[in-house]
Amino acid sequence: MKLAEIHKLAVKMGIEKDPRGKEEIKRLLERNREKYEKLPEKEREFFDLESMENPFPDSRILVGDPETEVRAAMVGIDMEVPEVLLADRLRERGEPLDLIISHHPEGQALVNLDKVMALQADEWYRHGVPINVGEALIGPRMKEIYRAFLPRNHERALDAARILGIPFMSMHTVADNQVHSFLNDHFARRKPHTVGEVVDCLLELPEYRASARMQAGPTIIVGSKENRAGKVMVDMTGGTEGPREVLEKLSTAGVGTIVAMHYSEKHKEEAEKQRINVIIAGHIVSDSLGMNLILDRLEEKGVHIVPVSGLVRVSRARRKGGASGARGRA
Ligand SMILES: [Fe+2]
Ligand SMILES: [Fe+2]
Repeated sequence: MKLAEIHKLAVKMGIEKDPRGKEEIKRLLERNREKYEKLPEKEREFFDLESMENPFPDSRILVGDPETEVRAAMVGIDMEVPEVLLADRLRERGEPLDLIISHHPEGQALVNLDKVMALQADEWYRHGVPINVGEALIGPRMKEIYRAFLPRNHERALDAARILGIPFMSMHTVADNQVHSFLNDHFARRKPHTVGEVVDCLLELPEYRASARMQAGPTIIVGSKENRAGKVMVDMTGGTEGPREVLEKLSTAGVGTIVAMHYSEKHKEEAEKQRINVIIAGHIVSDSLGMNLILDRLEEKGVHIVPVSGLVRVSRARRKGGASGARGRA
């Protein structure tokens, strides 16, 4: 596969599973195009042109020629300078590594992380929070996250990749949308009754069994396993943690249990106050599950995957002859 094809496939998969829905995404891309067209000539060079076609500012080709033919990719959750050096080291030993794929974004994909957070309002809406309330709550939180990431050293890992001539891309919300939708479908099929049964459902998946063996499995941080789960909300996509204030709205809307990747202490306290059960499914492992669902499609097209940096690689790729199986640390 060419690098451009990998990127295009990831964006397409991301859109298919996005809580905003295809129509809303079309409107968003159209709005970005209008913004560009209204810009004075001298400001146009600073505009993110891809935002007119790709609704995920955190999922981008960040280094390298899109025409690069990719035989194998080194993939991890955080790909920083050490991982870039590791890729170079393997190349020196003769491994045909043509691409680095990071889940957590770098470069401009990190600066613009806040932009994907708007989709959280659509997710809350699906659970009964009016869209006007959702949008009013997510707006200030997006600004807060933008200010938090703006002063970071965004280009550090990318500079290393450029100097060593290794293409580098990020797949963030495109992958988080996969795990989000996969778990929603899983719970809809399994219909867990108690909080403990929600955890059991997670442990049916090889990624979570692997993380449990590594002592980092799903953990109930608010509530107890005997509690009835009520309506379960998967909180795994949309950039990063949303505003705490929404928990009150979600509780009123009837959400009984939240399954998240990570939760700050303040979020936990608010969930306690709102009597919402919270299960931390695991951060890196949930990110891994989302990535795996995209990586399977690459593997099916002949791209070899080298998992590093915490990626719990489990393959569900359809192999020739119809067999599918799990491998890696699971
Ligand atoms: Fe993620
Ligand atoms: Fe993450």
